[in-house]
Amino acid sequence: MSAKFSLYKSLVIYYFSGTGNALKAAGWLAEKALEYGISVNMHSIERFQTVAAPEINGKTLIAFCFPTHGFNAAPLMLKYIVRFPRGSSDVLILNTRGGLKFGKVYFPGLSGLAQFLPMLFLSLKGCRIKGSLPFDMPSNWVSVHPGLTDSAINDITRRRQTEIYRFAERLFKKGYAFSYKFFVYMPLDLAVAPVTLGYYFCGRYMFAKSFYASADCNDCRICIDKCPTNSITLVNNRPFWKYTCESCMRCIGICPNKSIQTAHSFIVPVMYAYSLIPVVASFVNLLGLNTDGGFLQEVLVRVVNWIAVFIFLVITYRIFSFLLKMKFINRIFEYTSLTRYWRRYMAEGVKAGSFKKL
Ligand SMILES: Cc1cc2nc3c(=O)[nH]c(=O)nc-3n(C[C@H](O)[C@H](O)[C@H](O)COP(=O)(O)O)c2cc1C
Repeated sequence: MSAKFSLYKSLVIYYFSGTGNALKAAGWLAEKALEYGISVNMHSIERFQTVAAPEINGKTLIAFCFPTHGFNAAPLMLKYIVRFPRGSSDVLILNTRGGLKFGKVYFPGLSGLAQFLPMLFLSLKGCRIKGSLPFDMPSNWVSVHPGLTDSAINDITRRRQTEIYRFAERLFKKGYAFSYKFFVYMPLDLAVAPVTLGYYFCGRYMFAKSFYASADCNDCRICIDKCPTNSITLVNNRPFWKYTCESCMRCIGICPNKSIQTAHSFIVPVMYAYSLIPVVASFVNLLGLNTDGGFLQEVLVRVVNWIAVFIFLVITYRIFSFLLKMKFINRIFEYTSLTRYWRRYMAEGVKAGSFKKL
């Protein structure tokens, strides 16, 4: 059977995936491209050190596939895009979002700035935006909600496979394709922009510090080996999460003993305690800053606030890690962690060995 005709001769896919959704989306896109006789190169950007110029082979489409984190592109992908070389390539932005299904009802995720920022950065580099696909795979954020049932995962995954095949056909035939979701969700996506900034500059560090290994950890070190941002290290023979952690959920999903937990009983009191401490208010007074002094002072107050939160978090996480060494205390945290009772998430058919480094 002869290949179908496409304007593109080659497809280069740069992908990052925490739990396999973006990896599957990239794989489906590649599958369809091959049907059209398009040559495919897939590059995982995990732990990247340098960013090389893409291989251009005839008319080339460059796709960036990544999960949405905190209404934004995953920070690792944003960093990659910021360093991406200038050029006039055609590009596709595909962000996987967290879809949910309760009973028969589907709930889509929300991109926030996950499409806009990569589009902006790439356009400034001279690239032409030829495709946009906000893509609702099963949500993997099992720190904030229980993982979906197998049947819900299967159902959402099958629908998305059909959607991406149709989308890819349009894209390869016409040379451009924009999902209706990009336009329909635009007002909501823009409305959550302040939350995007809050998560990027503050919230993500809080989540990074919510992970710990329970007493069931047998020191197999798979989490360390497979962390896409190299953010887990050993401290006293126990995994320790650095601030570079993006909370991508891979470690929780692949841990063979299910021993990695989100410490709800640590993070909730920390947030509450932070709201009570007088340090921010006194700091602000000490520096003579107050919030009715115009925009600049408002920004200064927020920066001081952020620094105070960060210092507070560093200190309390150190204390928390120290306490975890005591088996009894470790068990208390474990039994009060919701992830101990919730299902975890990995995309269908995806295993620890499926993830490659650049
Ligand atoms: C830290 C974190 C933040 C997330 N934020 C969002 C979000 O803002 N909007 C959304 O639709 N999904 C969000 N999700 C869900 C993921 O984007 C979604 O499940 C994605 O498909 C996961 O892709 P991956 O398996 O390739 O990592 C978030 C997940 C995590 C772990």
